[in-house]
Amino acid sequence: MVTPHLARIGYVSALVEPWSRGDLDAHLSTWRRSNARRGITGLLLYEAGSVFQLLEGFPEDVRALYEAIARDGRHRFVAPLIDEPLARRDFGDWSMGYGRVAATDLAALPGLRPFLDPAFRYWHCSPEMAGALVRGFATGPWRRAIG
Ligand SMILES: Cc1cc2nc3c(=O)[nH]c(=O)nc-3n(C[C@H](O)[C@H](O)[C@H](O)COP(=O)(O)O)c2cc1C
Repeated sequence: MVTPHLARIGYVSALVEPWSRGDLDAHLSTWRRSNARRGITGLLLYEAGSVFQLLEGFPEDVRALYEAIARDGRHRFVAPLIDEPLARRDFGDWSMGYGRVAATDLAALPGLRPFLDPAFRYWHCSPEMAGALVRGFATGPWRRAIG
């Protein structure tokens, strides 16, 4: 039996202002440095002002970062969808991987059909959909799309 000593938190958010690709790249390069120092790994998806982010690491570090992120004034709102112990990291190679998949392409996986609607945003996801997103990037067809 594996005793989980790690944790993961996944949330969706609506940003106050949409970001350009340049904004996002600049933010990611800052956050990756800070995450590497804190042993945080994970995945971020972004589309039209909506975010899905999964944070992995030691439980106290993941919670502290999530709380800082949730207080960040750049969100209009934040909804946590995943909060659980973790036996091993799914995104251990990425201090914050960026999933380069268009939201409408995500609809190909079972459970993610609502993404067929171009108006669907990450903040509409249920906890089950959040789990399907993580699996799609952890083991599924989009792993190679993480940059
Ligand atoms: C969508 C979003 C994702 C973020 N992701 C991270 C992250 O992965 N790592 C990080 O250090 N800060 C991230 N931040 C920034 C934090 O909210 C916060 O500004 C940063 O941790 C600095 O916190 P401090 O003011 O407590 O030093 C993110 C912010 C937003 C809006």
